[in-house]
Amino acid sequence: MRTLLIPLLLLCGLSQAAELSPAEKDAAQQLAKDTGCLSCHSLTEKIVGPSYTSVVEKYKADADAASGLVQSIQYGSKGKWGRIPMPAHSQLSADQLKLLASWVMSIQK
Ligand code: HEC
Repeated sequence: MRTLLIPLLLLCGLSQAAELSPAEKDAAQQLAKDTGCLSCHSLTEKIVGPSYTSVVEKYKADADAASGLVQSIQYGSKGKWGRIPMPAHSQLSADQLKLLASWVMSIQK
């Protein structure tokens, strides 16, 4: 039993640290579209909010970045990027928030 538990725990820990599958990335992008994220954000250009590649640039050294982004997406954010605030997205589930935050951090130029 114990021999099974350890690899399982390791797996859970690893999957939390980002690394989304291609299918998860697609699902996240679709969710971002459906939720309206992409009317304020583009992957590479600043629109109302910062581009997602600049978010990655800002937080890439921070191993815990995704959990901070979950908070920003869920409760809204202001003053980190400029004068325009991001509204809260309280309708999203914890899983959806985590998926979106990990997806943003997985975006490459
Ligand atoms: C009405 C426009 C708008 C919408 C809709 C929007 N954002 Fe934002 N977003 C912003 C702005 C403006 C900022 C910069 C806020 C700041 O300066 O703190 C921002 C910041 C962010 C950040 C960086 C937060 C940080 O802590 O630095 C992330 C990540 C993000 N948005 C993701 C999302 C996701 C995912 C969605 C959809 C669920 C979304 N945004 C919807 C405008 C928007």
